[in-house]
Amino acid sequence: PDLEKWVDEVPRPDVLEPSGTKEGQPYYEVEMQEVEQQLHGDLPTTTVWGYDGRYPGPTIEAEQGEPIYVRWKNDLPDEHLLPVDTTLHSDAIPYDMPGIRTVTHLHGGNVEAESDGNAQAWFTRDFEETGPAFEQRDYYYANEQPTSTMWYHDHAMGITRLNVYAGLAGFYLLRNDHERELDLPSGEYEIPLAIQDRSFEDDGSLFYPTTIADEQGGSDDSHPDPSVVPEFYGDTPVVNGKAWPRLSVEPRPYRLRFLNGSNSRFYRLELLQYDESSGETGGNGPAFVLIGNDGGLLTEPVELEDRLELGSSQRADVVVDFSDYAGETLLLHNDAPALYRGDGSDESDDIVPLHEVMLVDVADSGSGTAADDSDVDADSVPSELTRVPEIPVDSVDTERYLTLAMDTDEYGRSRHLLGTAEERSGIPMMDPVTEMPTLGDTEIWSLANFTGMSHPVHLHLVHFQVLGRQPVGDYDPDEDAIDPDTLEDPEPYELGWNDVVTVDPAEVVHVIARFGEFEGLFTDQTGRYMWHCHMLEHEDHDMMRPLEVVPPSD
Ligand code: C2O
Ligand code: CU
Repeated sequence: PDLEKWVDEVPRPDVLEPSGTKEGQPYYEVEMQEVEQQLHGDLPTTTVWGYDGRYPGPTIEAEQGEPIYVRWKNDLPDEHLLPVDTTLHSDAIPYDMPGIRTVTHLHGGNVEAESDGNAQAWFTRDFEETGPAFEQRDYYYANEQPTSTMWYHDHAMGITRLNVYAGLAGFYLLRNDHERELDLPSGEYEIPLAIQDRSFEDDGSLFYPTTIADEQGGSDDSHPDPSVVPEFYGDTPVVNGKAWPRLSVEPRPYRLRFLNGSNSRFYRLELLQYDESSGETGGNGPAFVLIGNDGGLLTEPVELEDRLELGSSQRADVVVDFSDYAGETLLLHNDAPALYRGDGSDESDDIVPLHEVMLVDVADSGSGTAADDSDVDADSVPSELTRVPEIPVDSVDTERYLTLAMDTDEYGRSRHLLGTAEERSGIPMMDPVTEMPTLGDTEIWSLANFTGMSHPVHLHLVHFQVLGRQPVGDYDPDEDAIDPDTLEDPEPYELGWNDVVTVDPAEVVHVIARFGEFEGLFTDQTGRYMWHCHMLEHEDHDMMRPLEVVPPSD
């Protein structure tokens, strides 16, 4: 359908209330349900899946140092909303079993393995059937980590792309007193914004492609139908569950917490002045002052000179001061090419670049209440935000060379894989674990991309620091030492603590992580986790590997 733009206001997700206590801690119950929701004023209602019956799900607000329990409950119908490719991991998934498999991962959570939402810890409605890694119904989140913008989403093996596309995602914000004392814009002036892309049928239902073209490997005859697709790019931006929405703000500073909740798409964002009647963009709007990345606040704010880049699942915490734009209209503009810094190949014609994401209406000055005006201060971001201790490179116990590779599956479809120094051409997800850091160790992971496109690579459990990047040919793990001084510096949106990093074609990105407590931050955890590309189509089709933290052997 040809939807009129900028019709609906961006919704603010509700904050979830605990349903009781468990062992003296707040206890939440969140039920996944199939519901009808209006995603655009002119569109018939859309059937979506929502946590607590809402898409996106309600925001969980937690306090640093105060653990919570969450029981994620599955009340979804017997049949999937979208066609399911039953060839993915068919020896490990009982596709003929009734019910929908779900499992929730707290993305960015430094959590125990039993509560991590492992792809094989799935369960169906009322926990009738459970996967081989299922351990417990109530998940425990310790909240012993820097305050940050996290999000929760489905992670069930082989159907994560479909479950998240159907709507299973929500925010999880961690706060503390230190952050409150910074006096950042809060309350109605703090807005989480989940940016996703979707495609719709005329009847309002979600469209998700299920067939792939010949160029993508094999022949039409050999492709399963429905089949997983190489990537997904929707033609409509959806922010907090509304298509082509507008956000009304007052002329004052706001704290915006961006999440790229899309399946595959990258964004490179900037605010531009916009003439709504002609649809033309003008000069620059207010800058993004970056105050935090995936895993928490930065040491100091950084005013971005270039665009803000977000790969799938990345978060950016920014302060934007609209004071100088009273009465104006701004456009949240994206200039990322769909396939990103990839070779494009034959598919690119079908892909909509999605330049226009959201409109921002800045109210006339004087429209705020007197009480609001007293807060307005253009320099309201403190120059020191928090302490981000650097993980020392000379404390490294293990260096791992890990590859991003491609091969062909048994149906002739090309697929992406992760590999090691020994198996550079990649290792399927179900092969035995190869990454087994020892608890308390510091490791450098050198992520070397031998494919034709950029991939946002995510590690569960830990937050890492990006040391820098270099051309893949300049680094031989058997011969070369990693010298951060010689590397291309991380971008501003890669400073501080991160759990996702984008690796471009033909480059190697070096990241450093401590697998355990570090300077009073994070917790000691052992057990089975995962790491993967966060383009959900890649993750489902084998670009995922286990990661197991093992106790020291002494
Ligand atoms: Cu946000 Cu393993 O994922
Ligand atoms: Cu990928």
